[in-house]
Amino acid sequence: MSRNLLSTEDLPYDELSSLVDEAIAARSGKSLPQKPLAGRSVALVFFNPSLRTRASMQVAIYELGGNPVFIEPGGTSWSLEHRDGVVMDGDRTEHLAEFVRVLERYVAAIGVRTFAELRDWDVDREDPILNAFARYASVPIINLESAMHHPCQALADMMTIREKLGAGRRKLLLTWAWHPKPLPMAVPNSFALAAAQFGHDLRIAHPPGYGLDERLIASIEEHAAANGTTVEFVDDPDTAFDEVDVVYAKSWGGKQFYGDAAADIAHRAAFRGDWIVTSEKMARTADAIFMHCLPVRRNVIVTDEVIDSPRSVVIDEAENRLHIQKAILTKLIK
Ligand code: CP
Repeated sequence: MSRNLLSTEDLPYDELSSLVDEAIAARSGKSLPQKPLAGRSVALVFFNPSLRTRASMQVAIYELGGNPVFIEPGGTSWSLEHRDGVVMDGDRTEHLAEFVRVLERYVAAIGVRTFAELRDWDVDREDPILNAFARYASVPIINLESAMHHPCQALADMMTIREKLGAGRRKLLLTWAWHPKPLPMAVPNSFALAAAQFGHDLRIAHPPGYGLDERLIASIEEHAAANGTTVEFVDDPDTAFDEVDVVYAKSWGGKQFYGDAAADIAHRAAFRGDWIVTSEKMARTADAIFMHCLPVRRNVIVTDEVIDSPRSVVIDEAENRLHIQKAILTKLIK
């Protein structure tokens, strides 16, 4: 049976940790370049725009000796239906049942980028499109960001923390930031989950109305309990920064406003100005590094002064997507 990477919970910690170590060794030139994908192709299915994920996966597959096959449903391929039992008399031309089973006759793995639709929370939290790919596939499915998870990003984040701060237990702050519109939760979900899996202490800061998924929080708390680490939830945008080693900023939408962007935008208006990463807040930390998955809105999520400072590691973090994805592809495609 093939192994998928739908979330970081698909692999045990020792395997996640080995991926990070392999990626660090490869980045520093300590391991020899290999071509494990020679003569093989990997499909990269993008329902949404991307810079980092798209470019780094294409380069990773090429540098491993393989051939990336890009598919944009509704653009370069037919529009796709993923729901079971649907009468397809609307504008969707092909069902995932055929799409996946045809595609896997050509390729060794399928990477999928499909964001949250931000219409119905009960639907998005089940990651229906990603899970439909996994249901129909017999080759590995690699999540390139879905409604609920972004495991490649989270592993690049854990790699960056290990590279910059060493392998020990650190205190990580995940802070919500004001943004003009509601965004999906995949990045904060996966960062928080991976932080707990990797044995870090985690502080999650957000204003009222922006709590993460309860089921995800239960998983985070289980990992923290197993590792003897802490998980804190705070709502003060200043003291949240006290004595942390890592500041990870991200904006996301509120569950109760799902499907009503105008209500979310009205609710979050009160938090503009307070929920931005500034030099004053960074000064409260234990000389923390600043992280963001990118793309980032300057002087909205973080000031120019912070993102351009020596403590900002966002460009290395983005580079690490390439290294960690090479390790993931090598592991999953045998
Ligand atoms: N961080 C990230 O996934 O970037 P892209 O959306 O540009 O791929």
